[in-house]
Parts: sequence; C-alpha cells; structure tokens
Amino acid sequence: MERMNPEKFDAWSRDALRRVEAALEAWVPADAPAGLGTAMRYGVLDGGKRLRALLVLAAAQAVGADDADAREASLRAAVAVELIHAYSLIHDDMPCMDDDVLRRGKPTVHVKFGEAQAMLAGDAMQALAFEVLTPVEDDRLLEPGARGVPPARQARLCALLARAAGHSGMAGGQAIDLASVGQPLDEHRLRDMHHRKTGALLRGSVQMGAACGTPDAGAWNALTRYGDAIGLAFQVVDDVLDVTQASETLGKTAGKDQDHDKPTYVSLLGLDRAMAHARELRDQAQQALAASGLARTDALRTLADRIVDRES
Ligand code: IPE
Ligand code: IPE
Ligand code: MG
Ligand code: MG
Ligand code: MG
Repeated sequence: MERMNPEKFDAWSRDALRRVEAALEAWVPADAPAGLGTAMRYGVLDGGKRLRALLVLAAAQAVGADDADAREASLRAAVAVELIHAYSLIHDDMPCMDDDVLRRGKPTVHVKFGEAQAMLAGDAMQALAFEVLTPVEDDRLLEPGARGVPPARQARLCALLARAAGHSGMAGGQAIDLASVGQPLDEHRLRDMHHRKTGALLRGSVQMGAACGTPDAGAWNALTRYGDAIGLAFQVVDDVLDVTQASETLGKTAGKDQDHDKPTYVSLLGLDRAMAHARELRDQAQQALAASGLARTDALRTLADRIVDRES
C-alpha cells in the first residue's frame, strides 16, 4: 500500500478543505428568515477540523471516483455530513444535553442566539444536508464540468446519511449517552454507545465517499471495517482529550465528562489503556485498508494516524 508523505497529505487536505469551505459558504443561506441564517452560518462556517468531509473525499479517491460527476457527488456528500455533524454539535451543547458554553473556540450557538434559534438552526441544517444531496434543476453545480448527480446515487447517499444520523446511529447514541449519566457501562455497552453517537457518522462518511464510485463487495466491506474502527477510535480519543487537554487547545470546555458523570473510555479503562485501545483500533483500520485491494488508500491511512495523534 502506498504511503503518503506528510507534505503530500497536507497539500491534498488543503485543496480538499478549500473546496469544502467554498461549498459550505455557497450553500448555507445568510438570508434564511428571522436570523436563522445567521445562526446556521455561525454554527457551521469558520471552524471544525472537517474530518468527516475529508473522510468522504479520501474514500472517494480510494475508489477512483475522479470524474467530474463523481467529484460533484463527493463534494456534496462532504458538505452534507458536515452539516449533520454541526447540527449534532449545536444540539449536543444545549442546556438539555451537555450544557456547554464553548465550541470551536467561540460561544455556543444557544449562548449567542438563544435556545429556540439553536434548536431551529440544527433542524434546518439537518434538512439542508438532504437538500445538498438532491440537486434540483436550477441549482448551481459545484464542480467544473459536472452534469449532475444521477438519481440512483442521490438516493444511495441519502440512505447512507439518514441511517448514520438517525435513531440507529448518532441520535440513538446520543439518547444512550443521556440515559447513561451516572451509570458505569461495561465495555460492550460503552462501545455500542460510542459506535452509534460518533462512529456511525464517521463510518457513514467513508461509505458515502465509496458510494461515489463503484467498489466491489470486498472493497466496500473493507472500507466499512476501516470506518467502524476509526469511528470508535475517534470517540475514544475524544474521551482522552477531554481529560488531557486544556479548553484553549480543544476550543471546547475540558473536563466536562467527569463533571457530568459521563461513562467514557477513560472512566472505564484509565488514560493509558484507553489510548492503547485507540492505537489498536487505528491498526485494525489500516489493516482493513491493506486488505481492501484498493490502490489509493494513502489519504485514508494518514487520516487514521491523525485521528489518533491529534491534540484537539
Ligand atoms: C466533536 O467532533 C464531537 C464528537 C463527535 C466527539 P470533532 O472533534 O470532529 O469536532 P469539530 O468538527 O472538529 O469541531
Ligand atoms: C458528542 O460527544 C457526539 C455527538 C454526536 C455530537 P461529546 O458530547 O463527547 O462531544 P463533545 O466532547 O461535546 O464535542
Ligand atoms: Mg455529548
Ligand atoms: Mg458534548
Ligand atoms: Mg467529548
């Protein structure tokens, strides 16, 4: 398997992020009524690592989804997952959930615009994600030379995103999270919660990128295993960083999990074993890539490293 040197990866991700930011800028409407657009834009623009978007684009690259129409689809998928993710953060921070005042280095959306507007901004961003995936006649296409996104591909992307975001994925996991406050979970139940609340959208990002090409069943299954492993690793590391990093580095309030008595990989295993587990999951993810039979998995491989080595 090809390995990307850091400079090549950084150049690839700079280009990918530029495309994603420009597409988000174009798609999130400033003129939604009664200040809703301002709250939406505040919640999703200028911030975030855009990891899920990068996973979509790296998976699309891995399956060779390079022509203009496939690039149009994968860029839309990248924007859509970031919209769902940003909506999940806005709601996660509300007083009825984690009650957080800091996100991406700024006051949270409900602190800035009020709870009702925060709830509506999240609602509207969720719907907007599916609007982005289903371009209609007079929508401007994002990619030079693209003719559109074939209806079957639109449907597939919507199906993958809905399943990752909904009751069996992110929203279901968040319900378990809230129901588990003050209750130590065994490893099986903790893993299930993390797979749903965070892992599902990361795996979904990889699958959506893959769905912009035509991978065979073996490659699809390998990419799914990769997505499962890095999805869980990502939340294990999030649990670790909550303990080890300062709020300024994280851009969100450190130490919240213990304050709110949340079961985490740190409360279950301790810091060292939690980090060791994250590294094992990274190795599993990279083994899945090696077994995929795909040639251009280098960006996915580097993203797995970055997920585990990150400081925020
Ligand atoms: C934070 O996700 C929420 C979790 C699912 C743990 P990120 O750490 O990807 O947040 P941003 O998008 O970079 O702000
Ligand atoms: C959130 O998990 C997962 C989501 C679905 C948003 P956390 O509650 O641990 O995320 P942070 O630490 O607030 O970003
Ligand atoms: Mg939470
Ligand atoms: Mg939270
Ligand atoms: Mg957290």
